[in-house]
Amino acid sequence: MRRIQTYDFKHKRALIRVDFNVPLDAHYHVIDSTKIDRTLPTIRKVLNDGGSTVIISHLGRPQPGYQIRFSLQHLVTYLSDNLNTPVIFVQDCIGPEARKKAEQLRPGEVLLLENLRFHLAEEAADRKFGEALATLGDVYIQDAFAAAHRAHASMIITPQYYADRLAGFLLQEELSNADKILLTANKPFTAIIGGAKISDKVQVIERLMDKIDNLLLGGGVANTFQQALGGQLGNSLVAKSQIALVSQLFKQAQYRNINLVLPTDVVIATSKDEQTHTAIVPSKAIPAGWIALDIGPVSRKAFTKTIQMSHTILWSGPLGSYENQYFQKGTQAIAEAIAKATQQGAFSLIGGGDSTAAVQSFGYSNQGSYISTGGGALLAYLATPNLPVIQALY
Ligand code: 3PG
Repeated sequence: MRRIQTYDFKHKRALIRVDFNVPLDAHYHVIDSTKIDRTLPTIRKVLNDGGSTVIISHLGRPQPGYQIRFSLQHLVTYLSDNLNTPVIFVQDCIGPEARKKAEQLRPGEVLLLENLRFHLAEEAADRKFGEALATLGDVYIQDAFAAAHRAHASMIITPQYYADRLAGFLLQEELSNADKILLTANKPFTAIIGGAKISDKVQVIERLMDKIDNLLLGGGVANTFQQALGGQLGNSLVAKSQIALVSQLFKQAQYRNINLVLPTDVVIATSKDEQTHTAIVPSKAIPAGWIALDIGPVSRKAFTKTIQMSHTILWSGPLGSYENQYFQKGTQAIAEAIAKATQQGAFSLIGGGDSTAAVQSFGYSNQGSYISTGGGALLAYLATPNLPVIQALY
């Protein structure tokens, strides 16, 4: 894989695929800029060499067509301030205007294009759309690690049209840390998987099974396992389409002697915005109308004990609705246990926007060995390193 550090971008226009899928508040201000900040060194390298950049990204999961809350226009101010240059914006990522503005770029200038996913063709990996994007630069840089599990047009088709397709700094750093887990993981190896994007995670658990010793599950993933095992989940988040797969995974974990730990108790409420009326119940017996929103105290202890005995730790996805102080103890306990294990010499890799935000909000940002910008992407890479998006760079 060719890397940007040895490339001279002088008078080159770089098309950079980034993942600026960042959370925005009700006024469309960036709540957590981590993904943008971690891509800035790549953009700066091109500009400092005397090149210009055309930046493309997705944001959220919009329906095709323009929707204001998914517009990348909301990032222009943040990006301009942090690159110390006014960022030019075009309201479509392909078409005559995008092409014209790209061609007019002078060295040191930055063009940001509108959300790729406003075109259905992006997710459909449409060849014509990928080719149209490819007309926008002289060299392609892939720096969207967090979307590396998405074989979309800008990720796998566009690079095919370039002789010079390069890995940005963030992508390189992400892969080298993920490779530490793949190539040199010391045992016991514990994976902690939670969060709300259930299907992405369930689908890679099977492929992680030949690597891990302990699998600790929380959030929607754990709920889906509990339901597959006959539990009563009330109104909790469950991926019904994954139940059959999850039942098989449970059997496989037993067959392979993997220590699969599900929460035994959970904190419940009738809504995740609840402030007062919560209860702790067995995780398989959640009353109708109630939702599991965190792991309970007994589970926290069990999870913590396993983490502290681990030499390699992978964490993706919070254990509960950690944004609400009533449902954050489980996620906080995991962050703390990982910080301690890391201090004692374990290698820990923390992935996913929510886990990263949780770690930050609890003050443990610098206490994991590496904080990845990828959640589903990180797990997918660990399960199958030869992802199409990575292959497309060779
Ligand atoms: C992410 O946030 O995990 C990536 O940006 C991918 O987003 P997606 O799950 O909507 O494809």
